[in-house]
Amino acid sequence: MTQISKVKKRIEKLKKIIEKYRYAYHVLDKSLVSDDVLDSLKKELFDLENQYPKFITSNSPTQRVGGEPIKEFNKVEHKEPMVSLNDAFSEEDMQAWLERLENYFGKNISVNPRLDQRKSASLFYCELKLDGLAVELYYENKIFKQGSTRGNGLIGEDITQNLKTVEAIPFVLDDSNAKIKIPKKLIVRGEVFLSKKEFNRINKEQEKKGDKVYANPRNVAAGSVRQLDSKVTASRKLDSFIYDLISSADELEKLGIKTHEEKHEVLKSWGFKINSHNKSANNLDEVFKFQNYWNGINRKKLDYEIDGIVVLINNNYVYENAGIVGKSPRAGIAFKFSPKEAETIVENIKIQVGRTGVLTPVAVLRPVNVGGTTITHATLHNYDEIKRLDVRIGDTVIISRAGDVIPKISKVLKDLRPKKAEEIKTPKVCPIDGAKVRKEGVFLKCSNKNCGGRHKKALYHFVSRGAFNLEGMGPKIINNFIDEGLINDASDIFTLKEGDIVVLKRFAEKSAKNIVEEINAKKEIKLARFIYSLGIGHVGEETSQLLASQVISKYKNQIFLAGQAKIKINDIINFFLNISIEDLQKLPDIGPKVAESIYIWFYDKRNINLLKKMEETGVKIEIEKQKKNNNKLKGLSFVLTGGLEMMSRDEVKEKIRNLGGSTSESVSKKTSYVVAGVKPGSKAEKAKQLGIKILTEREFSELLE
Ligand code: IVH
Repeated sequence: MTQISKVKKRIEKLKKIIEKYRYAYHVLDKSLVSDDVLDSLKKELFDLENQYPKFITSNSPTQRVGGEPIKEFNKVEHKEPMVSLNDAFSEEDMQAWLERLENYFGKNISVNPRLDQRKSASLFYCELKLDGLAVELYYENKIFKQGSTRGNGLIGEDITQNLKTVEAIPFVLDDSNAKIKIPKKLIVRGEVFLSKKEFNRINKEQEKKGDKVYANPRNVAAGSVRQLDSKVTASRKLDSFIYDLISSADELEKLGIKTHEEKHEVLKSWGFKINSHNKSANNLDEVFKFQNYWNGINRKKLDYEIDGIVVLINNNYVYENAGIVGKSPRAGIAFKFSPKEAETIVENIKIQVGRTGVLTPVAVLRPVNVGGTTITHATLHNYDEIKRLDVRIGDTVIISRAGDVIPKISKVLKDLRPKKAEEIKTPKVCPIDGAKVRKEGVFLKCSNKNCGGRHKKALYHFVSRGAFNLEGMGPKIINNFIDEGLINDASDIFTLKEGDIVVLKRFAEKSAKNIVEEINAKKEIKLARFIYSLGIGHVGEETSQLLASQVISKYKNQIFLAGQAKIKINDIINFFLNISIEDLQKLPDIGPKVAESIYIWFYDKRNINLLKKMEETGVKIEIEKQKKNNNKLKGLSFVLTGGLEMMSRDEVKEKIRNLGGSTSESVSKKTSYVVAGVKPGSKAEKAKQLGIKILTEREFSELLE
């Protein structure tokens, strides 16, 4: 073989392998080799073609780099007008659309006799609505000949050079493995767009150069597609999906294609890049499911922007017969995701204290749906920001959620400000501990160094196992919620909404939902646990049990007569406000220190407010009905020591309590019995010293019988 024919062969092979990798990557979504390998193969091909220009063909992968700049675009007439779809924003809109269609056909479209014999398995075909630009591609004898923009729908612009730089668009089609052969003249339509990754890369470059950054991928895609210099287009790595094959229903049927879904299958078999997430649906419920699925976390996960779903009547004949109304097909609709901006009203401003003691103003909003989630709060960051925005309580504001970020107030609509709108005052003292507030830069900070840390710990305790037992809400999550201004005190936990959480980083829809469900499930709590959850100094689980039984015995007539198993938080408050330190000390296991701590806690107004807020948020306190003859151990106080063999410690404690007795961790004069298991410790010693009776496990269980 001569040198020159060797080169020719090498060029052919390189072209083939590069095309194979391109096809695998774009159409099959499989990366067979790394980008680096692909680049070096392209480089070799490029160098060879440079040396031997006579071997350059228009469909060589090297031709995707762009050509000479042009002065203007030629006009292209579309054989079929490029229409656009009407929008629906809600399920009701979708229902109305389907009703209009059914009215048009005179009967339920799915059983229309004229169309019945051509009925397809599924009524609808749902596609992801890509946020890019519509293009039309024309192929002749399987070769890409011309690409155009929509223009005014009838006449567009010839952007063939630019579209040749888009790797996802095939130069040459191949039907060797396809069931249906490619027609000599083929028109397809699709969307050209920019991935989020590529958008970020371009913007970073712009920033580096000190040039303006682009607002969204769509804008860059639009600018790139209509570049007179196709080298600029080439530098922007556009992507594309094809979603339509333009032909009459009759022609399509001759080819063996009856539905929109089948169009996609066939397009794929010819080498076009099709979106694999598209799916048929039998009814509107399935359509709504598809839309919901893509509106949440899954939308975030995609590497390209979508702004809704496209829903088309699947059957080609029905679609065609439905015709066009105005500029849109009757049998298709764009079911858009809810917008990323919405207006609402600032109902209040709360002050949240972060873990470092920084006071953050947070706007409490009239609930509003932004980007598919209900938003009830928006952080205002600091008091300078309040001044900058000039936001007041009662103001109408715009809430925006650009990309995946936390919602914020982007604008105050001052024209709508009511006369009574209240200016927001900068706080002088910390809402947590009443300490003075200092200014540090733009931030206000509580002057008590321990402030943030302390209430953080109180919250960890509140959700812990012995307390509200909120599973999955560990310190990390609490920290996150505090820092984002979602929670300040324990009662705030019960006001959390899925929408507040899902917008935070590291949260998916599922985990947000789980947390809210867990909180709701644990809103009902046993009295003893509730008392323990308050984190009153020196009040552990044992003491909480004891206090609970005291509260219950005071209110038992009222509670049991009413046939309830619940007690109002207000009654708990009254109980503690009406008990003296002396009375508390009379209880077994409560010494002066503990009594004082309980007393002080309930005399702090902030704590009473917290309890009242909990009642308002729907926290319900359950009490266990005491059984009859259950006070065998009434007035007796037990201490357990050593390893128990017959029952677990918790079981023993519960038994004692059920029989009216109490348990305590330490031996004192008030102790009635010490139950000693295997290897009893110093507690047994102390009991001996004080002359308190020590029971073996067996003796103890006999006592219970
Ligand atoms: S089907 C009548 N499928 O959305 C047009 N369109 O107004 C039928 N779009 O400009 C189009 N993604 O460019 C279809 N998967 C998709 C789409 C899609 C984006 C665009 C299309 C058109 C607009 C609808």
